[in-house]
Amino acid sequence: MALVTGAASGIGKATARRLAEEGAAVLLTDVNEAGVAVAAELRESGARAEFARHDVTSESDWEAAVARAAELFGGLDVLVNNAGMGDLLPIEDTTLAEWERTIAIDQTGVFLGMKIAAPLLKASGHGSVINISSIFGTSGGFGTSPAYHAAKGAVRTLTKNVALHWATEGVRVNSIHPGFVDTPILDGARGTPFEQAMLDLTPMGRLGRPEEIAAGVAYLASDDSAFVTGLELYIDGGYIAR
Ligand code: NAI
Repeated sequence: MALVTGAASGIGKATARRLAEEGAAVLLTDVNEAGVAVAAELRESGARAEFARHDVTSESDWEAAVARAAELFGGLDVLVNNAGMGDLLPIEDTTLAEWERTIAIDQTGVFLGMKIAAPLLKASGHGSVINISSIFGTSGGFGTSPAYHAAKGAVRTLTKNVALHWATEGVRVNSIHPGFVDTPILDGARGTPFEQAMLDLTPMGRLGRPEEIAAGVAYLASDDSAFVTGLELYIDGGYIAR
């Protein structure tokens, strides 16, 4: 029983598909109603999958989404905090409103998810939370997108903090740090000098595929990783090794 946020697109969509292929019942959530069709497609392939509209910045939306998972599946083993977006400008040009919006989605959304899903995750006896951070959670990137970097860095240490707190409570908490992955989140960079820079900065010389991140989620969600908690897993074509 899994809840995947931001599941209408990109990494979240690939993750929902992969977890469904592994036999999980999946609640896909997003503010983007395109998730309705993704859930339908998964059901057509024989999976148990539903969609719920869910803004991760809203505490009441979180309460409704977690309650829906409990109602549909009778519990929750796996929470994938994937929903995210980025700011693009340098610090001088970032408004307070833009900063607060990015922090609300990329950072506070992860806090709310773990807080509100905690009772179900603990009750499962083998819960697993996978928080999608970024290579930009541990590096300064291009020197732009200050709120994105701050939020993704916060997700990295929040993950370790909650991993310690739940270490003996049957809930593991890990973060995944994707490199540049070919999804719509990169659309703002296409056709700009950042596009080539992403390839130049990636030792493997290509963008990642959403399925390559989903494979890491599947590992951390499964009992194959039963002794793994507080880990930061880089799936980045070698970016962080430089
Ligand atoms: P995407 O843009 O394809 O998907 C992000 C999804 O999050 C969208 O469906 C969007 O509607 C949803 N979302 C945005 N705000 C939301 C909100 N308030 N509540 C609920 N859903 C919301 O992007 P992608 O690449 O699949 O991103 C997934 C995660 O991976 C994000 O956290 C992103 O920061 C992270 N990531 C992506 C990288 C990349 O190069 N694609 C690199 C490193 C991290």
